[in-house]
Amino acid sequence: MKILVVGSGTMGHGIAEVAAISGFDVKLVDISWEILNRAKEKMLESLKKLYEKGTIKDSPESIMSKIEMAVTYDVAKDIDIAIEAVPEIIDLKRKVFSELDRVAPQHAILATNTSSIPISDIAEITSRKEKVIGMHFFNPPPIMKLVEIIPSKYTSSDTINEIIELSKKMNKIPVRLKVEVPGFVSNRIYFRLLQEACREVEAKEATIEGIDSAARYKLRLPMGIFELADYVGLDVSLDLWNVIVSRGATDVKCSLFSEKVKLKELGVKSGKGFYNYPAGKYSKPELPKESDVKGSRLISLAVNEASWLIENKIVNANEIDTVMKYGFNFPQGLLEIADNLGLDSILYELEDIYSKGYSAYMPNALLKNMVNNGYIGRKSGKGFYEYS
Ligand code: 3HC
Repeated sequence: MKILVVGSGTMGHGIAEVAAISGFDVKLVDISWEILNRAKEKMLESLKKLYEKGTIKDSPESIMSKIEMAVTYDVAKDIDIAIEAVPEIIDLKRKVFSELDRVAPQHAILATNTSSIPISDIAEITSRKEKVIGMHFFNPPPIMKLVEIIPSKYTSSDTINEIIELSKKMNKIPVRLKVEVPGFVSNRIYFRLLQEACREVEAKEATIEGIDSAARYKLRLPMGIFELADYVGLDVSLDLWNVIVSRGATDVKCSLFSEKVKLKELGVKSGKGFYNYPAGKYSKPELPKESDVKGSRLISLAVNEASWLIENKIVNANEIDTVMKYGFNFPQGLLEIADNLGLDSILYELEDIYSKGYSAYMPNALLKNMVNNGYIGRKSGKGFYEYS
């Protein structure tokens, strides 16, 4: 099977690397050789780490030999699947898809790694709407196991099944949304974590380091919330936030992120965000081990969002937790954490913040019903999960 990856930035070159590791013939296209050569160096660096650890058996050089690079779409003429990973600009995506549609064989599936643009809007530019689908990878793609699969209103079930199978062959764990929602599951939860972290700091309830310490040492997440935003990119994170809000989610007014973006402090890639990253390389910020921030408050808005996703039958609790465990490396799923902390405490925090005038915190009906019926998590034997 021949896979074309379009765009060789952080996500694109990571996806190409994963496809090559899985034994596929890969083509990687970008607009210049300079960009492609940088991507090649990054892939080699990553492959060397994986080889040294024994995660891959073939040498980095032999895996790299499976990746053909090009600066023209002509290489798409014999592909089976394209995965687009260009910047999150709708006009650019549509241009790429119309080119792919023109050059790729009729049977080829055209997938997009977009994190926020509606799949249907991209599909509509092509003459094969039923073969266009969202295939959302997580950063860094060689490490993160999740692939979120997002069918548009046009996507056929054959296309969905083929992409689920492909994800498995790429050694990934697929989670399929029943229908598309802005931000999908992952980024709807991620942006709610950002919003609450931002709100607590702006309302002077907490400091950035206090939030991140609670995330890392109380909730045992691999990164603090601001640290994760630096890692993802503050521009990317702000774009996600704005797109999800512009498509109907209730906003939490908070300007910490937009101020950083205005200053061009974009996180790891620019060397500075909420923390400093000399040479544009990620390194773990030092954080205090103790913090006053409550874990239940920090995740309350995200749990409310998860509850909304379940209520609207987009995914179930288990699928949400799979997203958080394999897309964000949470040690436990978000809803497992919520059950452990107690859904009554989560509801208490939501009601408290809501009473301060933040309408986004209006408790979701499903969550409220669970608590009212005594299903408050592990301590009552039932919450999002049942416990014996
Ligand atoms: N390739 C190969 N190996 C890599 C790698 C890469 N690209 N990146 C990291 N690694 C390896 C390191 O070499 C290291 O290996 P070792 O344990 O053998 O030394 C291991 O992974 C851990 O890396 P570090 O020591 O540098 O640092 P951490 O222990 O903090 O791990 C992390 C880094 C894996 C990124 C971890 O912090 C993590 O899981 N963070 C959460 C990341 C996350 O949430 N990603 C999702 C973002 S959202 C998204 O992508 C969606 C989009 O739409 C916004």
